[in-house]
Amino acid sequence: MNVLIINGSPRVGGNTSIAVDEIVKTLKEEGIESEVVQIGNKVIRGCIACGICSDRGKCVYDDVVNELAEKFVDADGLILASPVYYASANATLIACLDRLFYSTGFDKSMKVGASVVVARRGGCSTTFDELNKYFTISNMPIAASQYWNSVHGRDKGQAKKDLEGLQTMRVLARNMAFLIKSIALGREKYGLPETEEREYTHFINDWD
Ligand SMILES: Cc1cc2nc3c(=O)[nH]c(=O)nc-3n(C[C@H](O)[C@H](O)[C@H](O)COP(=O)(O)O)c2cc1C
Repeated sequence: MNVLIINGSPRVGGNTSIAVDEIVKTLKEEGIESEVVQIGNKVIRGCIACGICSDRGKCVYDDVVNELAEKFVDADGLILASPVYYASANATLIACLDRLFYSTGFDKSMKVGASVVVARRGGCSTTFDELNKYFTISNMPIAASQYWNSVHGRDKGQAKKDLEGLQTMRVLARNMAFLIKSIALGREKYGLPETEEREYTHFINDWD
């Protein structure tokens, strides 16, 4: 069982990494492997809406997004971690996630998702909600903790002092491990929920 962790911070060893490290350590204690890919320091362009991915099953720009897609297929869980920038996620991470989710047609059902946000002070809740949207449109259940998943710090290393934030990360990791294991058992015993072919409607149809 393994979890893919996408770190959207450009700062190597920054506060987001501190939050992520706490999760990685706790997941390991729970018998779950994880792989962290830091993308905030890479050049990742946004989606250009070319639609070529619907034929190829992958993004026309063959960069780290397509590499992440290969890892995501095999993962039992996905964690999105981001520093808060102007009460939103890091823009490189959003460019990456728009392309990753839009270009991949594989079934993401019951892969467990979780978001983690890191800020000096404000904008955690909006960023948390923003990141969770990728899961809730993809049949992915979300692991929770005992507080919204935020860690605080401004300068590199300050997050180590946020004891409640780091505790929130450990509890999140344990809950996520439990969900992943439970879903594996449930899949064996009951199978995945029945799926339906998607009805694609858009509102202009009603104007004809
Ligand atoms: C462009 C930019 C915008 C930021 N906006 C916010 C913000 O809206 N709220 C906040 O509390 N901190 C904000 N910060 C501070 C970072 O969220 C904070 O330093 C965080 O620890 C960075 O994580 P990192 O060390 O993983 O890069 C901002 C930082 C930058 C560089």
